[in-house]
Amino acid sequence: MGTAILGTGSYLPERVVSNQDLEKIVDTSDEWIRTRTGISTRCIGGKGDETYLLAARAAVKALQMAELSATEIDLIIVATISSHMLMPSCACFVQKEIGADRAFAFDINAACSGFVYALDLADKYIQADPSKKILVIGAETLSSRTNWEDRNTCILFGDGAGAVVLGHVEGSRGVIGAKLFSDGKLWSLLHMHTAASCNSELLQAASPGVHIVMEGREVFKYAVKAMEEAVLALLEQEQIALDAIRLVIPHQANIRILNKLVERLGIGTEKVFINVQKYGNTSAASIPIALDEANRESRVQAGDIILFCSFGGGFTWGATLVRW
Ligand code: ACO
Repeated sequence: MGTAILGTGSYLPERVVSNQDLEKIVDTSDEWIRTRTGISTRCIGGKGDETYLLAARAAVKALQMAELSATEIDLIIVATISSHMLMPSCACFVQKEIGADRAFAFDINAACSGFVYALDLADKYIQADPSKKILVIGAETLSSRTNWEDRNTCILFGDGAGAVVLGHVEGSRGVIGAKLFSDGKLWSLLHMHTAASCNSELLQAASPGVHIVMEGREVFKYAVKAMEEAVLALLEQEQIALDAIRLVIPHQANIRILNKLVERLGIGTEKVFINVQKYGNTSAASIPIALDEANRESRVQAGDIILFCSFGGGFTWGATLVRW
């Protein structure tokens, strides 16, 4: 018995931006982007694609699959670093949009690890009160936080949202366990400022604007090592063998990070779900979008053990095991 995923949903903005489109904006090439990152296209939102609207569209699909109405939801947690407002939270806007009138709602910020963190939090709420039904959403419009003149970063990110509905079920189905980590000492390697402070004494002297700033090579090194350690620590904690995992759904940052991780763990590539080529890095949304695709393509079957693993700004990282 445990916290089961009762439904999944995702939503990607309609506008698809190719590497060739980016060649017209910055000094780059399709070949460079594909070989360094594995990305060919990404979806970029426009008017009417604010983060909460992407989140709400993904949530509605997850609710339909779970055969639940929005008014049956007790809690909405949105993992995001790109809400259109700092206050109210993105989750409160989602609540309004879908009519989840009975729920309480809040956001969490764990960057690309946000979904894995939020899933753990929701699992704890359901363990404490098995009657609760919870929507966990990862949603981002990183296009609004990207410096479109910086070729080092603007080629990497995309917009989108993924959602899951969680509830208690009897039997062996559900969240098996999680291992979460962070290291704030390494913040500067991957970060994003807030808007300028109105208090002039608190104003950052050299604020580069509300853009993602990244030391790509350093992030790469830490990401591979940290995700490997998180996965191994979780398998040890739960006494589960690597071979027992049916599908790995990693944070879709970069194909080279994923290839290195797979090589170091010794997992067959056929067991790893990858869609980074289509959507780029959608931060907190990447795992729930991939999960929804895997689910709708019947890549997961009842009883399968699935592994999520992620790494992002903070640094934050972690892994989760779920029995489908
Ligand atoms: N097009 C063409 N050339 C480029 C581009 C571009 N878009 N971006 C950088 N270059 C150039 C650099 O200027 C540099 O040129 P130089 O040698 O003349 O100075 C050269 O390419 C090599 O640059 P590096 O940064 O060393 O390239 P690298 O091979 O490390 O690849 C990349 C860069 C893809 C960002 C890589 O470091 C990486 O994947 N890092 C992981 C970062 C990541 O995925 N972050 C996402 C957020 S965190 C997360 O989600 C896990």
